[in-house]
Amino acid sequence: MSGEQDRPGRLRRAPESFLTGDFLQEVKEEGFNEQRRNWMRKAFAVAAAGVAGTGLARAAEQAAGGGFVGDPNILELPPWSTSLGKPVAARGYGMPSEYEMNLMRRESPGLASVKQASVAFTPLQGLFGIITPSGLHFERHHQGWVDIDPSRHRFMINGLVKNPKVYTMDDLMRMPSVSRIHFIECGANTAMEWGNVAVPTVQYTHGMLSCSEYTGVPLKVLLDDCGIDMKKAKYLLAEGADGSSLTRTISLERGLDDAIVAYGMNGEMMRPENGYPLRLVVPGVQGVSWVKWLRRIEVGDKRYGAKDETSGYADLMPDGTMREYTSIQEAKSVITSPSGGQTLLDKGYYNVTGLAWSGRGKVKRVDVSFDGGNNWQTARLETPILSKALTRFNIGWKWDGQPAILQSRVIDETGFVQPTYSQLRAVRGSGSVYHNNAIQSWKVAESGEVSNVQVS
Ligand code: MTE
Repeated sequence: MSGEQDRPGRLRRAPESFLTGDFLQEVKEEGFNEQRRNWMRKAFAVAAAGVAGTGLARAAEQAAGGGFVGDPNILELPPWSTSLGKPVAARGYGMPSEYEMNLMRRESPGLASVKQASVAFTPLQGLFGIITPSGLHFERHHQGWVDIDPSRHRFMINGLVKNPKVYTMDDLMRMPSVSRIHFIECGANTAMEWGNVAVPTVQYTHGMLSCSEYTGVPLKVLLDDCGIDMKKAKYLLAEGADGSSLTRTISLERGLDDAIVAYGMNGEMMRPENGYPLRLVVPGVQGVSWVKWLRRIEVGDKRYGAKDETSGYADLMPDGTMREYTSIQEAKSVITSPSGGQTLLDKGYYNVTGLAWSGRGKVKRVDVSFDGGNNWQTARLETPILSKALTRFNIGWKWDGQPAILQSRVIDETGFVQPTYSQLRAVRGSGSVYHNNAIQSWKVAESGEVSNVQVS
């Protein structure tokens, strides 16, 4: 690499910021003096574990015109190199580093008046690859989460079957199992942005999205085990065991396709917040149909008209009608870094990274624009590229210090192209809550600050 714009730039992460906006402004206006240099050295040292501190400290020295003075982080041995570490199994269940504790799922202030009927969003801005760590999986509960004793949990299949059955967890875990990676996205993801820009960071715009490896029994195996009446059966009703008695109609076609009655998530038992000990996984379909704490599936011949598919989870269309029984999450993508709330601290090279997904299958291509959609470049898709799973994309970008608008646009294997806001609103209006899959725009200001904007 050569020249200012080829050098990797530094990124101040959001919301884990360690330099204040005032300080950055002061340095911009008045440059460094000895006092500011010392202050910055200290600030970078504190943030060392968060953002590769040694490189930053050295860069700060050089930026300050001090030249290379020797990095104490190399020249002086730190305590961890000269002492005994902690013993094995000091923590029976591993935890992230204490320097990563700010990366957590967060509730959007003021979104819901009751914490039991609310959402905690996944911090997409701080994650790599496609798997969401189980402890950072988003949460959406209608009436709080429960931690069910698996020895007392029962799962029933009844309705249009020859042999209605009740399974224990033990029964289920002895049956043929599959493990597959899939995304789950709440139909209400990005809901707050229908009218205009509403929230600052990707955690809140897109964080009702997670991706895990699920293990369980294919629903088809269980329906066959009960002798489903294939002549009459058309729909399934899935019911949860929590206080909300969440019930959802699922078409038989989808149920027989790739749905899983899952107990495993990312190699261990499902977390209680996500449905322990049993949840329905319906790949590609909106999150509300992934019934948690699954206790019953009824086989029927008509849609059930349950409360969570009539009063809620229906789309208000521009002509005043409600669109019911939507299921598939259409193709969508978002740049996760740089993204809203972050600050680019230098001109130069940035690895622009993000996620793309489609409820209809695999991601075929992701294009990225740096000028608000006038020009597009094709991003690199990282493997694995799996059906109905998140796909990670990356593309290099040299920021020249001028204002820029970053966007990503996915095309899935069916040829569906992610719409702009004006294309989406032309069909759906702006009175909807659910299924907003418009192209997201992040504006990079001259100051390097990144903010959420909408362009048509
Ligand atoms: N299942 C039950 N039993 N109760 C619930 O409140 N919430 C639904 C769905 N399944 C819910 C449920 C909604 S609206 C969504 S988006 C997903 O679970 C959220 O799953 P998560 O909390 O594992 O992210």
